[in-house]
Amino acid sequence: MSDKGVLIVIEGIDGAGKSTQTKSLLRKLRAKGLPAVYFREPSRGKWGRELKRLAQQAGSLTPEQELELFQKDRRENVEKNLRPALAAGKVIVLDRYFFSTIAYQGAKGLDRDRIRRMNERFAPKPDLVFILDIRAGEGLARISGRRKKDVLFERESYLAKVRRIFLSFRGARFVQIDARQSRRDVARQIYDKTMLVLSKKPSCS
Ligand code: TYD
Repeated sequence: MSDKGVLIVIEGIDGAGKSTQTKSLLRKLRAKGLPAVYFREPSRGKWGRELKRLAQQAGSLTPEQELELFQKDRRENVEKNLRPALAAGKVIVLDRYFFSTIAYQGAKGLDRDRIRRMNERFAPKPDLVFILDIRAGEGLARISGRRKKDVLFERESYLAKVRRIFLSFRGARFVQIDARQSRRDVARQIYDKTMLVLSKKPSCS
């Protein structure tokens, strides 16, 4: 990659602890004096806000329409946030990226290879992708104390499919982490691996 910056992605199903771990990593990188910045998908841009709004009305979009909106949001995030930050030599900590699209929209039956290819055409390649792994039921129990049982049952079987797709991502850039460990242990593994990758980046050493 010609960019000077570094792109670190944190992925996982709902309730895996992404937000906590994203914040923890950012705090530690900044404490080290590194120029760390935070972004998320769905983003805070117009498409991301539209996705958040539509998420309240379950079933209002077909999987293909959903995919289209996540793609529009990602294009905007890449152009407005990710590319400028990478060019400026920042360390980006990104909460969800196109692996979420492959997993969540793939679990709704869309072709995973097609989703991957359409993203690889324009989305910068991450240096590291952490996948926080937890069973769907456990993840849901962490976040959804008050929801109705039948809604949860449907969500759980969907998230079990999403999880299986996340678990299928293998390769040098992917780090699968057991998210049932204590927050501190998960945070330490994420931080150690990030520092190792940063130490090998010529622009950061
Ligand atoms: P997120 O904001 O991470 O969840 P939360 O509101 O719990 O903080 O993501 C919102 C939902 O969007 C989440 O269930 C995952 C889903 N999602 C997709 O289905 N496809 C995608 O491409 C992305 C980025 C998220």
